[in-house]
Amino acid sequence: MKQKILITGASSGIGEALAYAYAKQGAVLGLIARRKDRLDSVADKCKSLGGTVYNYPMDVTDQTIIKFTIQNFIDDINNIDMVIANAGVGGMDDLKNGDATETNRILTTNILGISNTVIPCIPKMIEQQRGHVVVVSSVAGFRGLVAHGAYSASKAAIRIMADSWRYSLSHYNIQVTNICPGFIETPLVKKNRFKMPFLMDADTAAMKILSAVEKRKKCYIFPWQWKILLPLIKVIPDWLIKWGSTKANI
Ligand SMILES: NC(=O)c1ccc[n+]([C@@H]2O[C@H](COP(=O)([O-])OP(=O)(O)OC[C@H]3O[C@@H](n4cnc5c(N)ncnc54)[C@H](OP(=O)(O)O)[C@@H]3O)[C@@H](O)[C@H]2O)c1
Repeated sequence: MKQKILITGASSGIGEALAYAYAKQGAVLGLIARRKDRLDSVADKCKSLGGTVYNYPMDVTDQTIIKFTIQNFIDDINNIDMVIANAGVGGMDDLKNGDATETNRILTTNILGISNTVIPCIPKMIEQQRGHVVVVSSVAGFRGLVAHGAYSASKAAIRIMADSWRYSLSHYNIQVTNICPGFIETPLVKKNRFKMPFLMDADTAAMKILSAVEKRKKCYIFPWQWKILLPLIKVIPDWLIKWGSTKANI
């Protein structure tokens, strides 16, 4: 049976790689992102790999349009197997200029973009008594990173929201998987000036995500080194973090 999957943030990086990986399996894909030209070229490649594609160039922060679009997608394909809420933005806090615009952009995209995407899929999944919700969080969501408070907070928020959804939706045979990647080589991390530890390419990341989803993991942290490091990062004393950030001039 061909899987029917909605993926947000499919115009680049992890979302694009996931689209290709599922297209190779012959999936029916609904792809969402804002850049139409990028989305069109991803769709063309997915079709050449064996997928069927519905393209929706739009902004996940627009609750009304996203809801309407997802309902149309589900009506067109009759049912939905999986939603992968992956769209997200990075960025540093801009605390000094007294303007919350950048912080709010990150929080809105990374939190409301997820709820706007997932919740319209739920009534159909309940009706079907099956489905899989995949939320792309981050290892950055386990402790407030220096200068990235909004990003860390957004990733922690969606991980906890997804954990809660898992309890509520288990009654309807709906799985919920939290994906927590470390550094993945995509446009999102291009600006990083430091050497990113355990950097992984997007295609390998996509294959690992596919496997975790297939195994119905609740929370998948990768590359594996982060699973060991995260408990240690949680107990680093504040003074050491302050000292390090002063040294690095962050
Ligand atoms: N790369 C990493 O190291 C890393 C690590 C942990 C977690 N993640 C998470 O993985 C997810 C994918 O990121 P990536 O690394 O693949 O970065 P990316 O290449 O920059 O991809 C981000 C995707 O999100 C889409 N997007 C952003 N804002 C959107 C909006 N308002 N509406 C619709 N689509 C929007 C972008 O498309 P348009 O610009 O065309 O809209 C793009 O397709 C993000 O949630 C990110 O936080 C990444």
